[in-house]
Formats: sequence, structure tokens, C-alpha cells
Amino acid sequence: MELSVDDPPAPGQAIVELIDVSKSYVLDLVRVTALTNVSLKIEPRSVTAIVGRSGSGKSTMLNILGGLDRPSSGEVVVDGRALRKRSSDELAAYRRETIGFIFQAFNLIPHFSALENVALPLALAGVGPWKRKQRARELLARVGLESRGSHRPAQLSGGERQRVAIARALANDPKVLLADEPTGNLDSRTADEILELIVKTSRDLGRTVVLVTHDRDHARRHATRMIELSDGKIASDVDPRVPAAALAVSPVGAPIGTAVAPPPAAEAPPKAGAP
Ligand SMILES: Nc1ncnc2c1ncn2[C@@H]1O[C@H](COP(=O)(O)OP(=O)(O)O)[C@@H](O)[C@H]1O
Ligand SMILES: [Mg+2]
Repeated sequence: MELSVDDPPAPGQAIVELIDVSKSYVLDLVRVTALTNVSLKIEPRSVTAIVGRSGSGKSTMLNILGGLDRPSSGEVVVDGRALRKRSSDELAAYRRETIGFIFQAFNLIPHFSALENVALPLALAGVGPWKRKQRARELLARVGLESRGSHRPAQLSGGERQRVAIARALANDPKVLLADEPTGNLDSRTADEILELIVKTSRDLGRTVVLVTHDRDHARRHATRMIELSDGKIASDVDPRVPAAALAVSPVGAPIGTAVAPPPAAEAPPKAGAP
């Protein structure tokens, strides 16, 4: 198996689509609505941040996207295939082949080495021992941990553990990476490094990222799209790289609301007197 960028989908085609998805849970005879009629299309190779207060439905949405949970109504289409009619076994195969998960608590197996943790999804996918060791090494190198293969999770820092988890998430070459508060257990500097790694690796490999975070600054710095959930509904859907002021104050000649993401250089205005 090689790390390769798959053929690009047709322009305008979404890799992930939620169509009128609702989810409610019944607990002790009380119905809790976690998502209400959410529709959404996500472009291939984009980095989408899902933000919102605790309890707004972020994890529910990610779990439904990842086939860990089923919607009460509505449909999920990922990579051109609908999830609703799939059996539990087919959903398990979908999670294994199409999705890479990254969790806040890393979810590594404590008595496995870093290398064994990364190799585990390959074993589940039927890759032979020699091949999976080789690929696990390659993945650990990609996340900067080539010298930590034999360390167990307890012998690694939080940031290193999350790097192992990122390598593991990439093991089966998934098209979509789903990360639920992946930096929630890390200090802010390590958090930025980890988000940078997720975004850079996905970009290099042509992957699509959906990232749950309650930190809007993280979303602004790392995502190309920021969707806010509030009470299980989409409250806003913006390009976080566009300063709010640019939308409110129209540049000369451009109608309000047409601002596009400025190139990085445009963020620093040229010095007065510069040629
Ligand atoms: N398994 C469950 N059983 C019952 N209620 C749940 C379950 N999972 C989530 N909820 C409820 O759904 C709502 C959304 O939860 P969640 O998606 O976890 O929010 P977030 O990730 O934004 O904090 C909350 O009110 C939560 O209590
Ligand atoms: Mg959550």
C-alpha cells in the first residue's frame, strides 16, 4: 500500500454530504435532540472546523459522519456512497477504509508500542506482518516519531501520543480524517503543532479534514471553513480567514459580502513609501 493522492473527484462534487440529518436520543424516557435537520456539503481536500458550545451536537455530527452512530432521520453520503442502508459490518468496513479517527484522549492501546498501535488498523485490514511494520515505520516518520517506535504510550508526551494517533488514523489511507477535540488534552503550543501536523499531512496526502474544536482561534488559524453549531443546528458557516470587517466594509467597487480569503501577504499591509 502506498501513500498516494487518489484521483480528484469531479469539480463541485462533495466528498461528504449530510442531507437533512436529525438525531435524537431517548434516555430515561426523555428525548434529547442532538441534531435538527442539518444539511451540509464538504469539499474534498478542505479543512472544516466544527465549533460550538458544549452540548451543541459537534460530537454527534462527527460520529454520524464516521459511521459510529446512525442518524434518526436523513442521509449521509461519503465519497459518493450512502450510509443509511449499510449493515453493521458494512459500516465497520467503511470506518476502517474510508475514515481515520483522531480523538481527544488519543485512545492508544497502553501495552502496545507506538509502532504496534500504528500497525493495528493495518492488521485489521489484513495487511501481512512485514508489510505493516514497514508501513507503520513510514507513518511514524511522517509524524516525526521515527525514533519512538518502541515506546509505549506512557513513555511518550501528550503531543507525541497524538502524533502516534495521527499516524494510526492515516494507516489505511482514509479519504476523510475526523478529529474530535484532538488538542483538548494538550497545552496551547503543542495544540498548534498538532493541528498544523494534521492540516499539513492531510494537504500533502490530499485528504479531507473535519475537525471539532471549541477553540475558535484554532479554527481561524488552521481551517478553511468554520461551521458553528448551536442547539443542533448550523448557526453560521464562514471562511474564517476572511476578517469579519472585510465582509462588513466593502472594498471600493466590490459589493458587500464578496470578500474572498486574502493571500497571506495581504494580511500585512505594505509599508508606506514602499515601491
Ligand atoms: N449517547 C447519548 N445518549 C443521550 N444523549 C446524548 C448522547 N450523546 C449525546 N447526547 C446529547 O446530545 C447533545 C449533543 O451532544 P454532543 O454531540 O456530545 O455535543 P458536543 O460534542 O457539541 O459537546 C447533548 O445534549 C448530549 O447530552
Ligand atoms: Mg463533544
